[in-house]
Amino acid sequence: MSEHAPEIESYLGTTLKRRFCALADTLDSRAELEAIRRNIHQHPELAFDEVRTSGLIASLLEAWGYQVTRGVGGTGVVGSLTGTAGSGQGGHSIGIRADMDALPIHERSGLPYASVNEGRMHACGHDGHTAILLGAAKQLARTRNFNGTVHLIFQPAEEIGAGGGAERMLADGLFERFPCDAIFGLHNHPGVEQGTFLFRAGPFMAACDTVTITIRGKGGHAARPHQSIDPILVAGSLVMALQSVVSRYVDPNETAVVTIGTLHAGHAPNVIPDSARMEISVRSFSPEVRASLETRIRALAAAQAEGYGAVAEVDYVRGYPVLINSERETEFAQQIAEELVGADKVVSQAARIAGSEDFAYFLQQRPGCFVRLGNGANQPLLHNAGYDFNDDNLTVGAAYWTRLVERYLAR
Ligand code: NI
Repeated sequence: MSEHAPEIESYLGTTLKRRFCALADTLDSRAELEAIRRNIHQHPELAFDEVRTSGLIASLLEAWGYQVTRGVGGTGVVGSLTGTAGSGQGGHSIGIRADMDALPIHERSGLPYASVNEGRMHACGHDGHTAILLGAAKQLARTRNFNGTVHLIFQPAEEIGAGGGAERMLADGLFERFPCDAIFGLHNHPGVEQGTFLFRAGPFMAACDTVTITIRGKGGHAARPHQSIDPILVAGSLVMALQSVVSRYVDPNETAVVTIGTLHAGHAPNVIPDSARMEISVRSFSPEVRASLETRIRALAAAQAEGYGAVAEVDYVRGYPVLINSERETEFAQQIAEELVGADKVVSQAARIAGSEDFAYFLQQRPGCFVRLGNGANQPLLHNAGYDFNDDNLTVGAAYWTRLVERYLAR
């Protein structure tokens, strides 16, 4: 569909005759958004410490006429705006979320706007996600071509893996204080052509849990093994037994990963150590598989240890859950992207991503869609010290959010 299509059948069945945001409409904001993005890039802040960043966001939103609420879930900011365009009933609401935090990485991009904060870097493009949403904020305030309320949600602390900003904002009453009928988010995606949208309804990103297993045996002299309980033998046996978790207990139509990332024990060849310790990364794409992985890992650790007279202590930390996009909102968001950039730059059944994302918590409470936006085919990967967000996506992303809000609130 062309971006100039005059008449659009909304996904809710209302026929609309109105012009919605096109790519060309946000182009004049390019220089301003680039300056904002590079400013944030140069001053990265870690999880729950996004004081400067959230202050900048709040002041811009206020200048553009938003009702701004600071300190939501720590350093989170919500900008709210109500429009009364068209002849609809109004009263509907939508939330759009961007993440704000950086990573504890020493930047090696060599860019003129590289991080001035030693050991901190925007290596995941959250500077870009924030600038995109600010671009939409400006455009939405400028045209007010919608009927209802939009909440722009600037979230802290996505990167910490557990206990992140999404949970904190929800615990702080996000959806009670700022009602949202649906929630949308995006993340840039290096390795895919710039400006290409990747959609997938259903499970899209993995749940990621971390398990630490400590095997307690009985240390002793290497020459007197019969007077010891060797935790290294138990650990070796457990490493092999854990390979059965995915291969024997997960439905072949499902996907899961169990990776033993660390295994440490002992300091000397002539000493049997007291204990051995391993750390495991566990990833899955359904709540059922996730639960069965935990059951099996706990059972194997206990039984293997007991079989050798040792004890296994299992510390099972649940990270972010499976990110599940709702069918209807994903179809709607994909339609918006196709109207904006054409179907040839939209992938509808993108491959699942083994990374995790705390936007999943919002999707547990509201329908919505999380999309990945190509950052360029030959760009450094996320969390790489040479990574940079692709500024060509700023106006594309801003137009996507603006049009999505206008169409969603055109009822
Ligand atoms: Ni990220």
